[in-house]
Amino acid sequence: MEIEASNSLNHDTYIFICGNRRTVGTCCGSDERDQFFEQMKQLIKQYKPHLKCKVKLNKSGCLGHCVHGPNLVIFPDNIWYRFSSYDDLKEIMVEHILQGIPVKRLIQNFQLPPFEA
Ligand code: FES
Repeated sequence: MEIEASNSLNHDTYIFICGNRRTVGTCCGSDERDQFFEQMKQLIKQYKPHLKCKVKLNKSGCLGHCVHGPNLVIFPDNIWYRFSSYDDLKEIMVEHILQGIPVKRLIQNFQLPPFEA
């Protein structure tokens, strides 16, 4: 795959994937969904040679938007995504992280105040 990374994010980037499991109600975590964290980890490793920034991946607790999950948030961009497959994660990696173009079709329609480091 040819990568055009000229607009790659150039600030340290933090990706939080909710791995919370609740016993009642909707949540992000499940045996099947736990694989998403590992898949994103592999994608970061795979595309690392093209990255202009450090990308830190974290498995988070509940992000407070359970009914919209599975949830992933990228800081400091403060972009929230709902994803459901490896292909979604790859699209976020290639388009958002590498090319600086948020993946509109996966963006949640809510935002939190900007992250301050
Ligand atoms: S369980 Fe993932 S946001 Fe609450």
